[in-house]
Amino acid sequence: MLPKIKNLLNKLALTRETFWNIHEEVGEFLNLLIISQKYKTVLEIGTSNGYSGIWLAEALSQVAKTSKTKSPHLYTIESNLKKRFPLATENFKKAGLSKYITQILGHAPEVIPKTPHKFNLAFFDATKYEHILYWNAVKHRINKGGTIIVDNITSHKEALKNFTKEVQKDKSFTTITLPLGTGLLIAVKN
Ligand SMILES: C[S@@+](CC[C@H](N)C(=O)[O-])C[C@H]1O[C@@H](n2cnc3c(N)ncnc32)[C@H](O)[C@@H]1O
Repeated sequence: MLPKIKNLLNKLALTRETFWNIHEEVGEFLNLLIISQKYKTVLEIGTSNGYSGIWLAEALSQVAKTSKTKSPHLYTIESNLKKRFPLATENFKKAGLSKYITQILGHAPEVIPKTPHKFNLAFFDATKYEHILYWNAVKHRINKGGTIIVDNITSHKEALKNFTKEVQKDKSFTTITLPLGTGLLIAVKN
């Protein structure tokens, strides 16, 4: 990772509480997963100020170096027009990663259908009460070997209880929970 990007991430980490950002170890995990699996199309639900998006897009920029065909890309959804959406635009620009990112403004359940059809990775990190809507909208659009990752699975265990049960029942995915950050649910498409 370029020092300029790492420095920006370190700076943004200082305001993690304000912008509800993922923990650094979760960023490192997502980044490594994309690079190791050579994932090219990623969907994020909940951009905030772009902290996690930088981890995701930086990995895609690494994949781009070895990819001869499709250009890797992150589609990231945020509903907060006044503050977080424009801050993310600014931070993606500072990181020099804008060309790998399409920001989508709007309420996730309505805008997910407007994003491209297939993803290698989807990361859910928005309101905890719509996950089942996200899951139903996205699960058919994950490529075989692709992954859906859900943040806050431990910190919001009660709020996400029914959702977690639903995911674990789905035989087209293999799921595990990882104690990284606030807890990650990892669902890999069989
Ligand atoms: C936990 S923060 C995301 C943090 C970000 N992933 C990071 O780690 O840098 C959740 C964000 O999702 C946005 N959000 C919540 N519900 C949403 C929805 N239904 N559609 C789109 N964005 C939503 C909020 O405005 C907030 O900025």
